[in-house]
Amino acid sequence: MLRILFLTHAFNSLTQRLYIELQQQGHEVSVEFDINDTVAIEAVNLYQPDLIIAPFLKRAIPESIWKKTTCLIVHPGIAGDRGPSALDWAIINNEILWGVTVLQANEEMDAGDIWATQEFMTRHVSKASLYRNEVTEAATLAVLKSVKLYEGGSFIPQPLDYSNAENLIEPRKSLVKIKGQFQPLMTQTDRKIHWYEDTTETVLRKIRSADGFPGVLDDIMGREFFLYDAHEEQQLRGKPGELIAYCGGAICRATTDGAVWIGHLRDKQAHHPFKLPATHLLEQTIQHLPEIVADQMTGYRDIWYEQEGDVGYLHFPFYNGAMGTEQCQRLHRAYIEACQQKTKVIVLMGGADFWSNGMHLNLIEAAQSAADESWNNINAINDLALEIINTNSHLTIAALQGNAGAGGVFLARAVDEIWASQGVILNPHYKDMGNLYGSEYWTYLLPRYAGQENAERIIQARLPIGTQDALSLGLINEVIEKKGAFFVQDVKKRAADMADVPAYSSRLEYKRKRREVDEQYKPLAEYRKSELDKMHMNFFGFDPSYHIARYNFVYKVAKSRTPLTIALHRRTSSIINNKTRRAV
Ligand code: COA
Repeated sequence: MLRILFLTHAFNSLTQRLYIELQQQGHEVSVEFDINDTVAIEAVNLYQPDLIIAPFLKRAIPESIWKKTTCLIVHPGIAGDRGPSALDWAIINNEILWGVTVLQANEEMDAGDIWATQEFMTRHVSKASLYRNEVTEAATLAVLKSVKLYEGGSFIPQPLDYSNAENLIEPRKSLVKIKGQFQPLMTQTDRKIHWYEDTTETVLRKIRSADGFPGVLDDIMGREFFLYDAHEEQQLRGKPGELIAYCGGAICRATTDGAVWIGHLRDKQAHHPFKLPATHLLEQTIQHLPEIVADQMTGYRDIWYEQEGDVGYLHFPFYNGAMGTEQCQRLHRAYIEACQQKTKVIVLMGGADFWSNGMHLNLIEAAQSAADESWNNINAINDLALEIINTNSHLTIAALQGNAGAGGVFLARAVDEIWASQGVILNPHYKDMGNLYGSEYWTYLLPRYAGQENAERIIQARLPIGTQDALSLGLINEVIEKKGAFFVQDVKKRAADMADVPAYSSRLEYKRKRREVDEQYKPLAEYRKSELDKMHMNFFGFDPSYHIARYNFVYKVAKSRTPLTIALHRRTSSIINNKTRRAV
């Protein structure tokens, strides 16, 4: 068992995944945010780790640290790739094969000795989606391999040597092939869209390579915006660069050979410099544009229904998993319609990257009254959750292709069974959002499915939970050891089987009875009222913690310290245990 310290810019999804995977292997993991050199050195002195891992770092590790303790850096590039825009270049250059490399920190950034590298096939998706899926899977494999090698004690990592490149006729079997090179920071000039020259494919690639950060800077009607969330339009056409329609929150802009939908923008100059639905920022402009109703052939679809045999599938790939009031209301209507179909099972598919992350904090921040909008948003989610809990006509499934956080986890728990793709991370807590109490009937749902004791444990922990723990805690019902399209395929097979078994009717009957009994014991309205009383205090009360935490989250205010929940070395007991260990 190793003591492993994570030095990381943030406790992001990849860091959370590695945190869980390494703990599952029996290692102890503590986390320190990379705030400044002094704090990092202090953390190493307090914890005295066997190994340091940097899953997501934006700057170099101080020399005094890497000279004394082995530091492994996770770089989202193939072996030999160097530089801060690895994935951006991979997407712009249309790389088919990309990778993640684990290398040892030394005096030159990304040029250390190689411990492991793991390649993957890219997809035509945003940088963030590639990061949350392929990069995360590859990084997990490469880090676990590196840690095993480190534990073995005899492995000598391979120095980065560009003469061992692709033209090497017969590389030694054990040698990693150096395929990459140094690539500079990608600038807005590199990313610039030339609307009169670029094809749809190029425009999509440019926007996706910068999504979620920093976005492609562009001019829309004389104002500067960063563009995100781009999708191809199949039918509409116009003069290159022209805005030709809007649909839901998205605007449509013509290219030289087609058109693209742009779902989200960030206003460079405005006092709300965070991502918002495009139409939200272009209210005046869209008044002159035709509104398109999305269908399979045209428009920007953030909710759609498909049916196969006795099973209905509701997809809702909301950008970043955030569900605003209006989105919840539309999803609620779509859900009611799905329930009216002659099917037996409804599967709530969420999106490929996130199932749901609860209330839309950016829209709340941008609202005239954040408290009122929070109230509307939580009530809209609750209405949807209530509809799902009270569904008597169908068995219901939540198929988690991607992660879920806060209210999104409890909304998922409103169904009869949650099936999660292996590697999904759940953050079933609200406390990091300024001690928000939370709603979505969690006070009913958690004890109902996880039991009272586990419910307490889940809520108090404030920690991400992997699928194995979520399963044993009763938070989810099944882990499917598949990812992406293979997961969806498996879900479809299982859902069809569920609709087909002779026990279907008795399960549905049991579900109705159970709900009746639960309702008699304590009505759902009472759970809702007591949760919302506390949420009302969070939104409108004297304590501004939620509003401050939300502001910090939306404006991405850098953290000034690592939460004690993950910084083991900053807890008193851990420091005492460490007194006998060596210092940096
Ligand atoms: N509203 C608006 N945006 C949200 C969001 C929400 N509820 N949840 C996540 N996002 C955005 C983030 O701002 C980030 O945006 P970016 O692309 O501009 O960087 C993006 O989604 C990814 O989130 P990130 O925090 O980087 O992902 P993660 O996988 O590391 O962490 C969570 C996931 C869920 C733990 C974290 O995003 C979170 O705490 N979200 C807030 C959940 C919440 O409190 N909801 C309200 C109560 S119901």
